[in-house]
Amino acid sequence: YWLGIDIGTSGCKVIAIDDRAHVVATSLTEYPRYTQRPGWSEQDPADWWQATCVSVREVTARLPDPGEVRGIGLCGQMHGLTALDRADAVVRPAILWNDQRNERQCRAIVETVGGPEALLGLTNNQMLPGFTAGKILWLRDHEPESFRRMHRFLNPKDFLRLRMTGDHATDVSDASGTGLFDVRRRVWSAGLIAAIDLPERLFPRVVESHEVTGALLPEVAKDWGVPAGLPVVGGGGDAVLQTTAMGVTGGSRLGITLGTAGIVAGATDQCPDNRGGLLQISCGNAADRWHVMGVALNTGGAFHWLRGALAPLAGDSELSYARLVELAEAAPPGARGLLFLPYLLGERCPHVAPDARGAWIGLTPQHGAAELVRSVMEGVLFNMRQIVDLCAAADLGMDEIRVSGGATGERQWLRLLADILNSPVSTVAGGEQGGALGAALLAGIGTGRWKTLHDATGVIGTATTVRPRAETSAVYQDVYQDFCSLFDHLDPLFA
Ligand code: XUL
Repeated sequence: YWLGIDIGTSGCKVIAIDDRAHVVATSLTEYPRYTQRPGWSEQDPADWWQATCVSVREVTARLPDPGEVRGIGLCGQMHGLTALDRADAVVRPAILWNDQRNERQCRAIVETVGGPEALLGLTNNQMLPGFTAGKILWLRDHEPESFRRMHRFLNPKDFLRLRMTGDHATDVSDASGTGLFDVRRRVWSAGLIAAIDLPERLFPRVVESHEVTGALLPEVAKDWGVPAGLPVVGGGGDAVLQTTAMGVTGGSRLGITLGTAGIVAGATDQCPDNRGGLLQISCGNAADRWHVMGVALNTGGAFHWLRGALAPLAGDSELSYARLVELAEAAPPGARGLLFLPYLLGERCPHVAPDARGAWIGLTPQHGAAELVRSVMEGVLFNMRQIVDLCAAADLGMDEIRVSGGATGERQWLRLLADILNSPVSTVAGGEQGGALGAALLAGIGTGRWKTLHDATGVIGTATTVRPRAETSAVYQDVYQDFCSLFDHLDPLFA
């Protein structure tokens, strides 16, 4: 068996696969997220570790023979800053990917290196507030004591690695999401790091995703009920590895993940230039792969908010996602002219707009709960469509669109996505396992079960394909244009 551990934003998912890549056991343990101030988003790394231990123990307890576990792979929410002192103690709560406090620091970095084009020359990415770099500089500016204590930083999944094996290491895909990595050459950008005056000691060693970084410590192995010394491989950032796990590793496939965040991504075998820095480019999960993606911050997250906001009205009965989605069916495509802008947490793509906010536009007395719900679903998917359009403009092939993530459990979301994109969309077998499956496959590659990423992901086939309905798609072409025009009108209000 191989274990895949995915340290997400709402919980830790652990899976075990067998040598045919079939999932034999899974477990999910949730933990809280803290938002002390608007725009802030933090977690306690101790919660990650505890949840991981609970879930791994649960999974290994279900294996007929946990002594047969051969390796472990890691996947995780990207970009988060886990600051560690000299003794590897956590200095302060981790600052997460969707935390928006560091726009000023991002602007300062761009100025320091001589402008956006110069930055693209160094890293092939613009400096997004989601990235780790601005979070490090925020610490230097606002919590100098924490900054002085910080001896190293790690991204979330690599903090688990430290607890598992005692090693400070990351993989190329997660390193790409720090904003401090030269994605073309797959090494830290020494030029950028020197320009913004960060000490070299902060940066962990970087490996390719399938490479073994260390061996499971005896006390952890004992607690987890698996063999001591198990190899742990580099793994990957979730946005990249989820896409890989959909079998999107090249060619003309595009992957869409409808999770808390929404991700549209394709894979290439050469590092493309990130024209205008509109998309994120990161190293892929094999040495000859790169990942081109756009990330919207409010996809499942916006729907989650809506459910929470409406839940008190449902009285004692639970307001399930399925019920909400059913309610939306009562409204026509386009929700009778009601448009929803999903930027509850600010936005990253297609607009870098940490101060943007959500909005309903066009409300009339005609609109009821069905329109409110439908417009939210349409709004988050229009946002996906905008990123698909950006990917098309960046010459990414999209003969086949594969989709995964929590929302794909309900067919209505798939139908709406197909209609709004005016393209068939296919779910993949095992897609609900997301990055955890990718991590387990990487562990299989690193320990010799599969030779290449291509071999490992070759086992992933499509499950359901949903085709667009011509009439509905035609309605959406117009509504989409209206949606696209809204941001520019509202942008001055957000500042
Ligand atoms: C990727 C991104 C999110 C997080 C959280 O750039 O910000 O996908 O990794 O899952």
